Amino acid sequence: MENYYVTTPIYYVNDEPHLGHIYTTIAADVLARHQRMSERDVFFLTGVDEHGQKVQQAAEKRGIAPIELADQVVERYQSLWPELQISNDDFIRTSSDRHKAGVQAMWRRLENAGAIYKDFYEDWYCVPCEAYWTETQLKDADCWDAKHCPDCKRAVEKIQEESYFFRLSAFQDRLIEHIKANPDFIAPASRRNEVLSFVESGLRDLSISRTTFSWGVPVPGDDKHVIYVWIDALTNYLSALGFPEPEQPAHWPADVHLIGKDILRFHAVYWPAMLMAVELPLPKRIFAHGWWTVEGEKMSKSKGNALRPAELLEKYEADVLRYFLLREVPFGQDGDFSFTSLKQRYNTELANDVGNLLNRSLAMLNKYRDGVLGAVAEESEADRALIADVEAMQREVAACMDKQAFHLALERINAVVRHGNRYVEDNAPWSLAKQGENARLDSVLYHLVETLRLVALQLLPFMPEKMTAMLGQILNRKVQADNFSFSADGGWGVLAAGHQCRKPEPLFPRMD
Ligand code: MSP
Repeated sequence: MENYYVTTPIYYVNDEPHLGHIYTTIAADVLARHQRMSERDVFFLTGVDEHGQKVQQAAEKRGIAPIELADQVVERYQSLWPELQISNDDFIRTSSDRHKAGVQAMWRRLENAGAIYKDFYEDWYCVPCEAYWTETQLKDADCWDAKHCPDCKRAVEKIQEESYFFRLSAFQDRLIEHIKANPDFIAPASRRNEVLSFVESGLRDLSISRTTFSWGVPVPGDDKHVIYVWIDALTNYLSALGFPEPEQPAHWPADVHLIGKDILRFHAVYWPAMLMAVELPLPKRIFAHGWWTVEGEKMSKSKGNALRPAELLEKYEADVLRYFLLREVPFGQDGDFSFTSLKQRYNTELANDVGNLLNRSLAMLNKYRDGVLGAVAEESEADRALIADVEAMQREVAACMDKQAFHLALERINAVVRHGNRYVEDNAPWSLAKQGENARLDSVLYHLVETLRLVALQLLPFMPEKMTAMLGQILNRKVQADNFSFSADGGWGVLAAGHQCRKPEPLFPRMD
């Protein structure tokens, strides 16, 4: 079995989960489920990033220890994921012993490779962003004065301290070479160009330790220093696999790191350079998705408009959210979350299209044939066209999933659903029943039910609960989402004549 390793960023514990966090995790889950159905040995990792000054300060403000704050937020994530049908294989905490051991091993390997040295560090630091800025970067930034973070526009602090450095500059040429030689390494393409020009503009060595706070992994052999949060955080992708044991972890390299666009530089520059230094293979792909606004506005804690998953789950079923988030916005672009467009999409694509095709097909099968499928005597041109469309959909959806083009995959599935509804109109089973053309009626109903079954299979990774229910109605047995595979179940004609389907139960009632 081929391996497949997909990751999400590990989320900071100084904030509660919001829309942005569930977005990446849902996307990763859909990939994981699709690849499991393609019979790959999947490892799907998510987790939390617990260290750093920000977390230490947030905990101090509340008068609790950083680990207590972390425990509270971890609990939120761990209870949220099952509610959203997230099927992660592991959950990594950076405060865990297995992770700390991995980070210290990474440090030693970097040190042994001659990639670390000690020096003095003077720079501007943005605490909320945990980012360092040079004088020039601050001056170049479009800000009202040079003492503000070019990203978040908050005040930066001047820092001078003893620090360890990573020889990032030594990897500039190899990084450029790698990015150029591997067009799929960074996606989407616009992001790839952005990274390339950043690397080409020259890399400075990276300060990778701090002495100004203590909530982190100590530098091996010099525990006055704490390891810079990004070295710590990025190593999670390996520590979860047991790094430094075994020498070559089975699931490494990752097939895809899913991230938001704001953390691309860390993943597409620092992380590959670190891996080059310790001579480990680089991840195959880094996909940076866009950011959501809510009803046209940027989400922010101070505005109080951050969409919280708990609120969303009170209003909508998990599957509906999963579908909407991946259908509404091309993965990689920014998008806006609006309740009106959610309702609109739900009513047209789920209630009117899929829901209607399922209801009318099973209703007619039950009305005219007692729910029993008949044999297909002779295939018409319309039947063959429908089968061809279903089979093309299967191939094209697989290709879309390899590129993380979720919206295109869903569009392609929906095209088959619309084809199915047209097929109903064109072949008018009700007239066939009236005229007693039973052979043709059986054939039409069979093609509809097979189409529905194969559509449900493709939609299963996106909407595991709804599609399990849909398959249950078609297959007339108790089904479990993870018992299906494309090779065993994906062929046309798996259902035999004489198979009994259930009466339809509406899956997507209209939303008012
Ligand atoms: N801890 C780091 C990641 C370390 S990975 C080795 C971090 N954490 S975070 O909690 O701040 O952000 C996690 C993810 O949430 C990022 O990928 C970020 O892009 C994403 N989002 C935060 N706000 C978002 C939106 N408004 N929309 C979509 N995603 C957003 O960064």
